[in-house]
Amino acid sequence: MKRTILRGRVLSFRSEPQGLDDAASYDYWEDGAVTIAAGKIIAVGDFAADDTAEIIDHRPHLIMPGFIDMHLHYVQSQMIASYAGSLLEWLDTYTFVEEQKFSRQGHAEAIASAFYDELIRNGTTSAVAYCSSHPRSVDAYFAEAEKRNMLMAGGKVMMDRNAPEALCDTAQSGYDDTTMLIERWHGRGRGLYAISPRFAITSTPAQMEASQALVREYPQCYVQTHLSENAAEISLSMQLYPGSPDYTGIYQDYGLLGPRTLLGHSIHLNHRETQVLAETGAVAVFCPTSNLFLGSGLFDRERLRQAGVRIGLATDIGGGTSFSMLRTLDEGYKVLQLRGQRLDPFASFYMATLGNARALSLEGTIGAVAAGNWADLVVLDASATPAMALRMQTVTSLAEELFLLQTLGDDRSIAEVYVAGARAKSTLGGLAASHS
Ligand code: GUN
Ligand code: ZN
Repeated sequence: MKRTILRGRVLSFRSEPQGLDDAASYDYWEDGAVTIAAGKIIAVGDFAADDTAEIIDHRPHLIMPGFIDMHLHYVQSQMIASYAGSLLEWLDTYTFVEEQKFSRQGHAEAIASAFYDELIRNGTTSAVAYCSSHPRSVDAYFAEAEKRNMLMAGGKVMMDRNAPEALCDTAQSGYDDTTMLIERWHGRGRGLYAISPRFAITSTPAQMEASQALVREYPQCYVQTHLSENAAEISLSMQLYPGSPDYTGIYQDYGLLGPRTLLGHSIHLNHRETQVLAETGAVAVFCPTSNLFLGSGLFDRERLRQAGVRIGLATDIGGGTSFSMLRTLDEGYKVLQLRGQRLDPFASFYMATLGNARALSLEGTIGAVAAGNWADLVVLDASATPAMALRMQTVTSLAEELFLLQTLGDDRSIAEVYVAGARAKSTLGGLAASHS
């Protein structure tokens, strides 16, 4: 079997770092070798000459697991940077207009292709995305992922009220379309389906019941929705579901919370809600660039961690302002600074790799440079721009290099990307390859 060896400095996490000195939480090889065969990693260790394999030398760059983005909207790729006050105005003015374009033949395919190019350009090898309410947007999303051999999760957004008619499904059609799409895409290639009621405001109780039925019928699928992002959203949700104790309680009442449930934002949670997330194993997904852009609030990572809530990290394109997980880490760091909390660079890069893999219950599949995992990898260049190269001259430790990457880095720091063992960034067409 053909083997490829990537040579470079290799970093991969074993567990969540408990501070800068927690050397047991990661593996690091200064002159490392990642051996790949049939799309998987078959060995990692110190480099040794081997003339039976193809060797690709990435020194002095850093080889890490590809980044994982836990929450974004591929159908919002063309509306990033839309000027609005806050969430509900932004949804009505831009989002619900933009998503209607996905009823048009050809549009979803074109945007899906551009979306995956952008993920790859930024070193993201797996993600969980919302499609629009149109089944064809889901077909385009998974078909393009299959073409690129990427592990991607996602689903048709279900929404049957408080949105333009052209975007609304019904409880029954949302259920029927989701069933058809799960049967078509879940487990096909590397595709994984996420049952996606948009949020309490745009789903009637009947649609929540339909979602509950889907979760019962397809427990292997993810569930994704939005939770507690913004004050006006919370108060409207409570008006619409007056029988529930709080926002989290709405999803709890419909049996939607469990270890495969991904709750975008989860910012303004009360004590009971935090306890419920911890007890059910549902994941709170931190979306820093979006939360800053829409003025939604400051995620309380420390409080959730101490309560035992699982946490993910995401861009939330197009409320989020960058496809880059490096930019996302930088903004996440600043959000936590405003909360008086510290996120050290090892914990940051853990979150974007193994942390998110664990939040998706995919440890052993992605998120680590370890034998048996898919060879989904990113090659990072901490001297990619003149300002970075200048700062790199004074860097003396791995932690400092990581912090430099997250503070100054973006797509230009992504020297190469591998998806299932194949070069993915340098093989992008046109403009995309010009920085690699
Ligand atoms: N809540 C419901 N839909 C959305 C969305 O598309 N983006 C964000 N940020 N929040 C939402
Ligand atoms: Zn979202």
